[in-house]
Parts: sequence; C-alpha cells; structure tokens
Amino acid sequence: MEKDVDIDKVVRQHLEMEQFFSGFSLKGKAGTPEPQQQENNMANAEKVAELEKIAEEVHQCRKCPLGSLRTNAVPGEGNPNARVMFVGEGPGADEDAQGRPFVGRAGQLLDKVISAMGLKRSEVFIGNILKCRPPGNRDPRADEIINCLPYLQRQIEIIEPEIIVALGAHAAKTLLNTTKPIGELRGQFHEYYSGIGRPPIKLMPTYHTAYLLRNYSPENRRRVWEDMKKVITELGLPIPEHQKG
Ligand code: URA
Repeated sequence: MEKDVDIDKVVRQHLEMEQFFSGFSLKGKAGTPEPQQQENNMANAEKVAELEKIAEEVHQCRKCPLGSLRTNAVPGEGNPNARVMFVGEGPGADEDAQGRPFVGRAGQLLDKVISAMGLKRSEVFIGNILKCRPPGNRDPRADEIINCLPYLQRQIEIIEPEIIVALGAHAAKTLLNTTKPIGELRGQFHEYYSGIGRPPIKLMPTYHTAYLLRNYSPENRRRVWEDMKKVITELGLPIPEHQKG
C-alpha cells in the first residue's frame, strides 16, 4: 500500500500545477429545489445530458489500470440539481458489482445519515474521487486520483451544489488540496473552488461511513451528526425534530 504522505505530495503538486496553468481554482444550492426554483427544464435537460456524457466517458475509461480490473465503473448518481453532493473515496466490492455508488454497508449507513438530515437519496448527488474499485479496497494511488479527478470536477461544475460533503480523508484532502488529517479538517466548512469566476462551494469534511462502521462509538456518531447539522443549517433547513438532541 502506498504511504499516505507520498499520495498527498504527488496529488498536491498536480493540483498546484493545474491551478497555475489553467486557472484551476477550487470554488464556493436540502434537498432538491422545488420545481419552481429550478431555472428551467432546458437547463435541467442540459445538465442531465452533460452528466450522462461524463458517465459514458467513465464507462469507456482506460486511463489507468483500474479500468481493466473493474467489473463496472461507478460514475456516481443522483439529482442534477442537488443542493448537496456527497463525495466518497472510491467504489468497494458491492459498488463494483452493481455500478452504483454507496450501495454496500457504508452506503446503507450513508442512506441513514441522509435520511436523518431530512433529505432523500434522490435529492442529493453521490460520487467518488475514483470511479473504479482499487483491488482489495486499497487506498487510491496518486496517478489514479490524478487521472480520475477531472470527471468529478466536471460533475461538480455541472451540478453546482451549494455544499459538498467530503466523506473521509481521501475525499477531503484531495478536494481541498491539503495534507491535514481528517480529524483536523472535519467539523467546519472549507472552500472548494471549481474555476475562475465561480463562487466557492462550501465543503464539509466528515468521517467516512466505512470508518464509522469500523469505529462505531457514540463519540464518532455524534461528531458526524454535528457536522451534518451544520450542513442542514447552512442549507436553511430545519433540523429534523427527532434528531435535535
Ligand atoms: N466507499 C466509497 O468511498 N464509495 C463508495 O461508493 C462506496 C464505499
């Protein structure tokens, strides 16, 4: 398994170069806007078409060896007008088998978190840093992240969510281009820039639900819930009554 610090360094250098040369700047809309809030059907149809195009590219992708190891690529799924986007690390065995993000045990827990927030899975968008499963669920490698990240960056640009929830260290560190540990990053909003002239998107790092399953302590559950309450409040939505405590 590659050392975390090497991955961080290579990905950071890549992101800094990208930022320098192409004006890449990381940027800063619960639930889905009501139909009357959506700009218009055409914009919606365009978004759907663009997201489908990306998904098709992901299904054809052979930029790294993971492309030939996968059963199914997992482009991500959800509402093209989502106000919140959840970003994980990469598909696991269940996701690889089904071609859908967060459908295994970690996904079932994510579904519970989303529902506890007063949202529906169909209202949010769920994606990953990597679109193909690393063998044995090992950590993503720098070259895999560098090859795959543009797909997620384009999805974010199209969806323009108000808030990104980065699930776990890999998503948070990659999207924020930082080496800081997740324990330090979580609990407060950071800014993700998707391009020049675009406002920053608020990004809330929190523990990955797979980590939460492995470390299912009241304290860790409380931390994730505190983070999600900040997201709900930022969206201007009420904290569900039974979850206030
Ligand atoms: N873990 C992830 O990071 N992503 C998934 O899609 C499933 C589990």
